[in-house]
Amino acid sequence: MIKGPVLTIENLRTYFYSKSKQAFIRSVDGVNLEIDKGKTLGIVGESGSGKSITAMSVMGLISAPPGVIIGKIRLSTESIQKNLLQGLKDYVRINMSTGRIMEIYKDNVGWQKNIDRIMYKIRGREISMIFQNPKISMNPFITIGSQITESIMLNTTIKNRSKAKERALYWLEQVKIDSPRLRYNNNPHGLSGGMCQRAMIAMALSSEPSLLIADEPTTGLDATIQSKIVNLLAELKSTVGVTTMLISHDINVIRELSDQVAVMYGGTVLEHGPAKDVLSAGYEYKHPYTAALLASIPNEQHIREKGYLQAIKGDVLDTINIPGGCRFHDRCEMITNKIKERCENHEPDLKDISANHKVRCWLYYDS
Ligand SMILES: Nc1ncnc2c1ncn2[C@@H]1O[C@H](COP(=O)(O)OP(=O)(O)OP(=O)(O)O)[C@@H](O)[C@H]1O
Ligand SMILES: [Mg+2]
Repeated sequence: MIKGPVLTIENLRTYFYSKSKQAFIRSVDGVNLEIDKGKTLGIVGESGSGKSITAMSVMGLISAPPGVIIGKIRLSTESIQKNLLQGLKDYVRINMSTGRIMEIYKDNVGWQKNIDRIMYKIRGREISMIFQNPKISMNPFITIGSQITESIMLNTTIKNRSKAKERALYWLEQVKIDSPRLRYNNNPHGLSGGMCQRAMIAMALSSEPSLLIADEPTTGLDATIQSKIVNLLAELKSTVGVTTMLISHDINVIRELSDQVAVMYGGTVLEHGPAKDVLSAGYEYKHPYTAALLASIPNEQHIREKGYLQAIKGDVLDTINIPGGCRFHDRCEMITNKIKERCENHEPDLKDISANHKVRCWLYYDS
């Protein structure tokens, strides 16, 4: 019996180099997250805040040189308990001076060989992924049934083809594909967008992963299909109960499906806590960025009163020139005279403000 979170991310940093800007991009810059067994962690944040790169880092899928991942990604399942980045820092060196990255040295060949060795039995087996666009994520030339059957034979203890086929049909039923036996023989492009997304969910679950990463699983589908997929995911959450990292910039999707929520901004987590608190407009303790995000989506009160939505002023943080101080301070409307100096010059830590609820904001420090 494994105790503690299935996934614990500590001080994760994923950096790229932009040739055109001749500068390092700090896409993920000190992320801390954890996901408990059977729970769904929702990750929200504006475009470019580092949500997908956090997920890709967990999968070890950062290859563009000198794309580097450092920190700890601890996976704790029945069969594997390890830091997925163990030993990889031997292949990377980052020289920093006064908070700026001056140089990254990376032995690309050694890095790639080792990350692939570590991730070989993890990708698809311990951790599965659902992406935004199922049609480009599935092989267009192989029927969806064969793809799921192969995945079952590769990643589970079922090695007999006809048993694997029966199991594939079971998963097609679980995701409510109409006429699973007929659809089994369809290629991905023979299915509508919504059906194809269901097939991809079936494929991801069929390997019975310890962790499912769903990156914008409903984005790009039309509104009615989107709500059907959300309902399906909610139902699978109670029937299959797989531990999930759910990424979406749609707060309503995150609210519907998550137990815990992490709010990301400029490559870091500004708030991490129970979904019912973090995403409730009435809850008193929250990061000003979360409050601004909530004010920028329509709610019942807006609709009733036909009120205007508030856009968050300013632009999303440029993760090349990260300012000193709190990353959100340029756009924050809740800075008081008492904390102004700290907001502008010192980055706060994620601070516990109640059980399981952390906020990275000087408003919640006493002195
Ligand atoms: N291969 C890459 N090379 C350089 N920069 C990259 C690369 N991939 C991502 N980035 C940058 O990293 C930052 C974070 O990107 P990421 O895709 O994680 O954002 P996101 O939060 O998932 O946004 P969205 O909601 O639009 O999907 C962005 O500024 C992006 O431009
Ligand atoms: Mg993304």
